[in-house]
Amino acid sequence: MLYQLSYASKPAAGITVENVAEIVAVSSKRNAERGITGFLAYRSDWFLQALEGGQAQISSLLCLIGKDPRHTDLVILGFHPIDQRQFRSWSMGYAAVHAGDKDVVLRYASGNELSPTELSAAGSIALLRELSERTRTP
Ligand SMILES: Cc1cc2nc3c(=O)[nH]c(=O)nc-3n(C[C@H](O)[C@H](O)[C@H](O)COP(=O)(O)O)c2cc1C
Repeated sequence: MLYQLSYASKPAAGITVENVAEIVAVSSKRNAERGITGFLAYRSDWFLQALEGGQAQISSLLCLIGKDPRHTDLVILGFHPIDQRQFRSWSMGYAAVHAGDKDVVLRYASGNELSPTELSAAGSIALLRELSERTRTP
């Protein structure tokens, strides 16, 4: 059955945009091989990622991602069956979140800053969808 997972985490100290670009390049290739689609948003102090695919494939990928020292404090926001993919254009789409995205991001926040762990599963997907709509497909 098709599942969708979303999680938030914190970039490890010293992680740069170049490091993230490398993660996305590898992820894109590997996810395509496993029938996984998804989207990753990165800001200097958080990652937010959605993954879609088979339940077993997503579970084993998350185990790998969870051990990755390039981020910490991973919190799962949602993991549930879905009827159709919402990020089907991307094996791993990517958006770097900038100050200019505040209008979008803060709509999902309870205060003046978004802490992604406060997002509901639906909120995390809605935010990633909005960010993905501003991103050109590969
Ligand atoms: C924030 C973040 C997101 C990641 N997303 C993916 C992903 O979607 N797919 C993937 O294959 N690896 C992803 N990775 C990388 C994996 O943790 C791992 O390095 C990669 O799958 C290679 O695993 P290997 O040890 O089998 O070579 C991500 C890493 C980080 C830090």
